Amino acid sequence: MSLLSSLHLSWLVWAVLAAVLVRVSLFLYRALHLLYTHPLARVPSAGFLAPVSRLAWAFPHEYRGTITLDLPRLHAHLGPLVRIGPNEVSYYSMEVYDAVHKAGSHFGKDPRVYGGFVQDGHPALFSITDPGEHARRRRLMGQLYNRTRVPLLENLMLEHIQHWMRCISRNSQAVDLAIALTYAAHFSFGTTVGAVEAWAAGRELDLVAKNDELASWMPVITNLPGLWSGLESFQSRVSAITRYQPALWRGLGEFEEWSHMTFGNFVQGKAASSLSDSPSPVLIETLVRSGLPPRTALAEAKENMGPGTDTTSASLAHVLWALAHNAAYQDALFLDLEQIGFATDMASLEGVPRLRACVKEGVRWAGAAAAMLPRVVPEGGVELHGTFLPEGTVLTSSPIWYLRDATAFPNPETFDPYRWLTPDASELRADTLRDKYYIPFSKGANVCIGNQ
Ligand code: HEM
Repeated sequence: MSLLSSLHLSWLVWAVLAAVLVRVSLFLYRALHLLYTHPLARVPSAGFLAPVSRLAWAFPHEYRGTITLDLPRLHAHLGPLVRIGPNEVSYYSMEVYDAVHKAGSHFGKDPRVYGGFVQDGHPALFSITDPGEHARRRRLMGQLYNRTRVPLLENLMLEHIQHWMRCISRNSQAVDLAIALTYAAHFSFGTTVGAVEAWAAGRELDLVAKNDELASWMPVITNLPGLWSGLESFQSRVSAITRYQPALWRGLGEFEEWSHMTFGNFVQGKAASSLSDSPSPVLIETLVRSGLPPRTALAEAKENMGPGTDTTSASLAHVLWALAHNAAYQDALFLDLEQIGFATDMASLEGVPRLRACVKEGVRWAGAAAAMLPRVVPEGGVELHGTFLPEGTVLTSSPIWYLRDATAFPNPETFDPYRWLTPDASELRADTLRDKYYIPFSKGANVCIGNQ
């Protein structure tokens, strides 16, 4: 009997060893294939093991938040194409950017990354990855975002700005613009979260702060989705037993509660809006009236907070900070605005070159959309810079690299509104290269719908 069990044991050990050996050999075979015989093997690598796994190079750089800073330095040495994963190539080339992002492009958004933004299982404009479905949703959203619709938002904006100014004037301490302005951009739901009031009272709403913090977890959510969902279910079990919830999940939960309550009020016909006397369109309402299922409209409103809020507040904060450090420019701009009677309509404001120049330069200099925009190579593959990239390869680049390109924007780190102006500042100056590289809102099929 004991002979039999020791025989069993030795067979078991051999079986385990063989299984380990097979796995290691498969791993080595795959690693060698990815490094030397894969169709992307000719593309220079960001690091020795970058082609073997995203976890070796791309993930740590994403996690540290430095990937958009580190890649341009690598491109300077390695050329326009750099491999950053088994199946992923970063490019720094306006020619490629144009090809990938042009209107009607078949390069779809990478579901691995954009899937992380989907709210309640309903993909919205930002996270829809199928180009056809995206084009249909985009047409529907046009009724809110087209240029002709922008004047309808004027009252809403003025109301928020005046409210914010009142809060600032009551506040004697220094103002952290980056935080203060984050709170000024909530129009999707037809009501505010009360964040400006909270800020004026010296508090930061968890509901806002933790949504921002979630952005820093995106690398984990998109690279290690299993780990993230494990963490989520672990914390929900622990909090069900102990009633304790970590601040991150409490804040996210508050946002969920607030958005669903606002949505519930809307469905029951109760306008919860503090701006109910304003004629401004409300995103959820407009989309539902156009036939979008209510839950999808809610997902659009929730998702909109990501690309629409921090980008705008960061850009505004940069413009205001830069003006505060350019007193002469600020004084001249003040006189220009005085001359048009401090008009607030878009046409009058667009007629002030100095204003347009400092907004354009601020948006460039802030580079608020500091993200990589990964796209998937369509059927048939593509040849770029003499290298063939097979279908399914992920091609990625960041719009902010082109905004800091030293050829198109000499002294790119300097806030210089004069690069947009004629010497007497009476007009905007033409510059084809500068305009070609000015892509803060990206371009083509997925150009920022909020850019107007
Ligand atoms: C200075 C402010 C802004 C900057 C720099 C900015 C930048 C961008 C960029 C670079 C993209 C392309 C993203 C991609 O392809 O993955 C984008 C898309 C988008 N932005 Fe903005 N954005 C700003 C303001 C806004 C505002 C105010 C809204 C809404 C109120 C908004 C809503 C969106 C949406 C929904 C998309 C997805 C568009 C699509 O895929 O068709 N953005 N934005």
